[in-house]
Amino acid sequence: MAKQSQTFPAGIVIFGAKGDLTRRKLIPALYNLYQGKFLPETFRIYCVDYISVEEAGYKADLRSGVDEFSRNGKTTENEWLAFADHIEYQSGDFLKAETFVTLKSALGKFDISNKKRGRRIFYYAVSPRFIETISEALYRQNICNQDNLDRIVIEKPFGTDLTTARLLNRFLQKRFAEKQIYRIDHYLGKETVQNIMAFRFANYVFEPLWNNRFVDHVEISVTEKVSVGARGGYYDSSGALRDMVQNHILQLLCVTAMECPKEYEAEAIRTAKNAVIKNIRPVSGAQVFKQVVRGQYKGYKKEDHVASSSTTETYVAAKLFIDNKRWKGVPFFLRTGKSLTRQSTTIIIQFKHAPLKIFKDDIEPNRLIISIQPELEISLLFESKVPGLQMKLKPVEMDFTYKESYTEAIPEAYEALILDVLKGDPTLFMRADQVESAWQVVMPILEAWQKQPAKELHQYIAGTEGPTAAVDLLKPFAKTWTGLPEQQKT
Ligand code: BG6
Repeated sequence: MAKQSQTFPAGIVIFGAKGDLTRRKLIPALYNLYQGKFLPETFRIYCVDYISVEEAGYKADLRSGVDEFSRNGKTTENEWLAFADHIEYQSGDFLKAETFVTLKSALGKFDISNKKRGRRIFYYAVSPRFIETISEALYRQNICNQDNLDRIVIEKPFGTDLTTARLLNRFLQKRFAEKQIYRIDHYLGKETVQNIMAFRFANYVFEPLWNNRFVDHVEISVTEKVSVGARGGYYDSSGALRDMVQNHILQLLCVTAMECPKEYEAEAIRTAKNAVIKNIRPVSGAQVFKQVVRGQYKGYKKEDHVASSSTTETYVAAKLFIDNKRWKGVPFFLRTGKSLTRQSTTIIIQFKHAPLKIFKDDIEPNRLIISIQPELEISLLFESKVPGLQMKLKPVEMDFTYKESYTEAIPEAYEALILDVLKGDPTLFMRADQVESAWQVVMPILEAWQKQPAKELHQYIAGTEGPTAAVDLLKPFAKTWTGLPEQQKT
């Protein structure tokens, strides 16, 4: 990241400024960027929400959010005060034009005082139902009207299915240029996810093996220990497939499986990723129940704001194939779920067996483990001779850990992403076609489930590894998911 890369003044508007995302992620990220001198010298943060608040109390609350959630620990008095001086709160109803008139005037004054039209970032930290309303108001008030300077940032979920996502894309594209629209998938901002491209394309040794000649199968797991908690209202109408697979997991699949782009440039990269999704073999009809396992943790129906007859899945495991030259025949096993044993995101590249069996011992084929979180590591498992007078083999691991290799701090995903928005670099954001392709993959699965809502909805006990059926899905490629001891099967 280039320091002070922003010479242009920036007006950063956060809609939904009283919400959880602002307090937990956005303000801590902006504060860290400020501390690291990555924000422009001249910037203002306009926090907009419908609630009237007293500004000092509001800022104190933001500060406690930074103290609690920033990777840099607690704020220091002077630095916080200097940062907070850039923040102003504006109470305003998103449904009323006057909110945007006031905002326009504030942004206009900011430009006048800088003698320069600054860049403007409009961050929608709001419920999806406000996306159209806010966009229409920005458009009508002519606030977000300069293609090269003004950007909107939209959080997931982007639509609730293919039709709504398409409509939303068309709606936004009528009001803004595509290059102004930043659709966030925060997984793409994670340091370890960004490193996958470096690992694959800046090294010569791995890429020749990265195909169906050498790879037996791939596992992508995003397991969570947390339950749906207070998010039952949203989650019950979403489910794990929409919440995690349509976006984060398919994006992990893309970075794992994509071809090398011609250059490290936003459009080349996004096109290469989209090609992966477009080549995923569709799973539909009866095949859905063979290739996709869904589960619900026991007790889910008693969570707040969850329907007592809910058939929403809190767990999904799927077997997908990518029908291209590189990956033909290699299954990609994906899984995610809530209320599991632990929080862990990993990508496993499981290589094939050595072609000749010349040793007596059973040999474990090579395995590359890319740990995205909570550990940040890449390990390669290989066989080695156990020291001694016999030819006895045992798998060992060669590890790269960020902790041991670097002294640099690891930025939060939101820091990287907000900085990219300020710079105008959309590489790590979802283009309209990517979002739609991803919906195309999950739609037939959703449709099959909608037709038979209770069919094979496996119940699992919270705090376990999820349904046994997800282990069976791996057969005959593997006995169990990597890292999951066989005896722990549920
Ligand atoms: C969000 C989902 O997008 O990602 C949540 O809506 C999920 O349900 C979260 O818990 C996981 O993100 P992370 O960064 O904590 O792995």
